[in-house]
Amino acid sequence: DWNSGNVIAEQVARIRAQVGTGKVICGLSGGVDSAVAAALVHKAIGDQLVCVFVDHGLLRQDERRQVEEDFVVATGVRLVTVDVREQFLTALEGVSDPETKRKIIGREFIRSFEQAQAELIKEAAAIDGDPIRFLVQGTLYPDVVESGGGSGTANIKSHHNVGGLPDDLQFELIEPLRTLFKDEVRAIGAELGLPAEIVQRQPFPGPGLGIRIVGSITQDRLDLLRHADAIVRAELTAAGLDREIWQCPVVLLADVRSVGVQGDGRTYGHPIVLRPVSSEDAMTADWTRLPYDLLAKISNRITNEVDGVNRVVLDVTSKPPGTIEWE
Ligand code: XMP
Repeated sequence: DWNSGNVIAEQVARIRAQVGTGKVICGLSGGVDSAVAAALVHKAIGDQLVCVFVDHGLLRQDERRQVEEDFVVATGVRLVTVDVREQFLTALEGVSDPETKRKIIGREFIRSFEQAQAELIKEAAAIDGDPIRFLVQGTLYPDVVESGGGSGTANIKSHHNVGGLPDDLQFELIEPLRTLFKDEVRAIGAELGLPAEIVQRQPFPGPGLGIRIVGSITQDRLDLLRHADAIVRAELTAAGLDREIWQCPVVLLADVRSVGVQGDGRTYGHPIVLRPVSSEDAMTADWTRLPYDLLAKISNRITNEVDGVNRVVLDVTSKPPGTIEWE
């Protein structure tokens, strides 16, 4: 029967056999899958692995720190962070069409990952002439089924992941999670000693906060949304609802303004949308009936603490017809 210790031992042996003394690279997204895959490979081959983390500025509060500090402390992994926040802002300037945003983010992501790779490859070769030959992917069993199955819903939105790499990549893949489901991956992550904030993390889209700003993306809007999102996550966690909720996108309607009153002045600010959903697999979802008191608390905190927001609204649409994300 299934046991995370056995799976770890089996995968470690398998990775060692595949890699030998070769060098390996792995992109970390801050999500569960890439973190657990990296930790497994590191357990198998130690410093033959180097991890790359791309900070594109569309991350949530504290995500970079969790990877750079907590994950590295827990695993001892060698990590290189590439800071491409400026590059992403420039590429996305003035763009508000959702699919265009997604394509730009996907393209820039691959570009910056490849640049980092190229530098690391040069560095690695300079040390002993041995190039990096392997790439780790956090592919799960459902991903394998989905991309092979072709069920016809693929083009509703162009999804992008750390795994969305070009076809001509000169790497042999290592995919230690290929036979596993999400809850099994979490169990293995916990067994490997990864921080709970990473192992229990809810799904977060590859394009990040970029597809949660309805309108074009600017630094100020990102900061505002990051702040509101952090409040929502803190309150949901404090209320003990992390398990019950599949995820709760927090969306900034940057192109909408409404009139309000605060203190003794009129305001003309942006709405924040809460999109709490319950789901088994994200293919369908229902909006989560959050307790009114909790909604009131979140609304008060956001309007009091986040400059520029004077209204909080709740999305009460199931999927279908609404998708989980707004873009
Ligand atoms: P939708 O909005 O299509 O989202 O109902 C379904 C699930 O997928 C996540 N999502 C993404 N995940 N790359 C990802 O890795 C993406 O481009 C992407 N877009 C949406 C979304 O958060 C939800 O869990």
